[in-house]
Amino acid sequence: MKALILSGGKGVRLKPLTNTMAKQLLPVANKPILFYVLEQVKEAGITDIGVIIDPDTGHYVREFVGDGSKWGLKITYIPQANPLGLAHAVKTAESFLGDSPFLMFLGDNLIEGGIKAFVDEFKSALPNALILLKKVADARAFGVAELDAAGKVIKLVEKPKVPKSDLALVGVYLFKPDIHLAITKIKPSFRGELEITDAIQQLINDGKTVDSHILKGWWLDTGKKDDLLEANRVVLDDYLKRDIRGTVDPNSKVSGRVYIGEGSLIENSVIRGPVSISENCQIKNSFVGPFTSIGEGTLIEKSSIEHSVILRKCRINNIERLGDSIIGSESEIMKQEPGFKPLCLFVGDNSKVVL
Ligand code: DAU
Repeated sequence: MKALILSGGKGVRLKPLTNTMAKQLLPVANKPILFYVLEQVKEAGITDIGVIIDPDTGHYVREFVGDGSKWGLKITYIPQANPLGLAHAVKTAESFLGDSPFLMFLGDNLIEGGIKAFVDEFKSALPNALILLKKVADARAFGVAELDAAGKVIKLVEKPKVPKSDLALVGVYLFKPDIHLAITKIKPSFRGELEITDAIQQLINDGKTVDSHILKGWWLDTGKKDDLLEANRVVLDDYLKRDIRGTVDPNSKVSGRVYIGEGSLIENSVIRGPVSISENCQIKNSFVGPFTSIGEGTLIEKSSIEHSVILRKCRINNIERLGDSIIGSESEIMKQEPGFKPLCLFVGDNSKVVL
C-alpha cells in the first residue's frame, strides 16, 4: 500500500505566512503540521510515500522532509504545476501510484489518535473507497456527505451552500486504484478544480462501494489563522509534557506542562503552561501564558503573551498584552519609547495589524 500526501496549493488563506513557506510546514506546538502527518502515516505501516508539492514552495518541503529516512520512510516528490484540485493531484501522481491501493492525506489536516485503525479497516473490508467524516457546526466550508438510514453514503457535495447534513469530509481517504477511472469521468467544479469529492460521487454512481467512518476524536484543518491557533491549542493541551532542557533562573517561575528547549534562557519571567519554547530562545522580564508556542531563536523582553504562535527568530519587546496572534519568522514587534507619537510600521504584503 502507498500513501499520497498533498503538500501543494498556494495557502491563500494563510498569507502572508505562506509567501515564504508551504502552509503544511507551519508549526503546531513547534512542529510542522506535515511532520505529524508523516508520523501518522508511518504508524499506519505505510512507508512508500508520494508528496505533492507546489513549484513555488516545494523546495521548502524538500528541505524540511528530505528523503524521509529520518522517519524510515521513502519519499518521492511529485510537483503539481498548478493547484487544480485534489483529484488533479491524484492524476498528477498516477505513475507513482500505479495499480496500488493508497491512502490520501491532506498535509494540513490533523487527526486525534492517528489513522492506523482506518487503514486496517480498509485493508480487511477492501471497499473501493473509505472516507472519514466528522460532525461540524458549519459544513459549508467542506465536502459534505449525506447518509441513508443504514449509514450508507448516498451523496457527496463539495462546499454546498445549503448542506444536507453536518458531516464534513475529513482530509483522509483510502482508495483502490479504480479511483483513477472515476477521475477521468468528472469535470472541474464551480471553483475550477477537479474535486476528489466528485470523483468519490462518481464511484457511487458507478455502483462501487464507498464506506464511511464517523470520527469521534478531534479533527483539525489548519487552513486559516484561527484554525492554526486552535490546532496549536489542542495539540499543546493534549500532547505536551513538561520537559525543561534550557536554563531557568531563580527569579523565574515555570508552572504546568512547559517544554523549554536546549540553549533557551528564562530570566525573571513567569511561564504558565501549556507552553512550548523551542531551542535558543531568551525570555526576559516577561509573562508567557497558556497555549503559546515560541519558535527557535526568539527573544522576548518586557512583554506578556498568551494563546499565540510565534515563529523562529522573532524579537518582541515591551508589548503589554499580545494574544490570539501568529507572528511570522524574523519579525520584530516593539513599542516605541514615550515621546514618539506616530506609529512606525514596516509591514509585508497581505499582513494584518490590529491596534
Ligand atoms: O480539509 C478537508 C477538506 O479538504 C474537505 O472537506 C473538502 O472536501 C476538500 O475539497 C478539501 O477542501 P479545502 O478547500 O480545504 O482544500 P484545500 O484547497 O485547502 O487543499 C487541501 C490540501 O491539499 C492543502 O494542504 C493543499 C493541498 N492541495 C490542494 C489543491 C487544491 C494540493 O496539494 N493540490 C491542489 O491542487
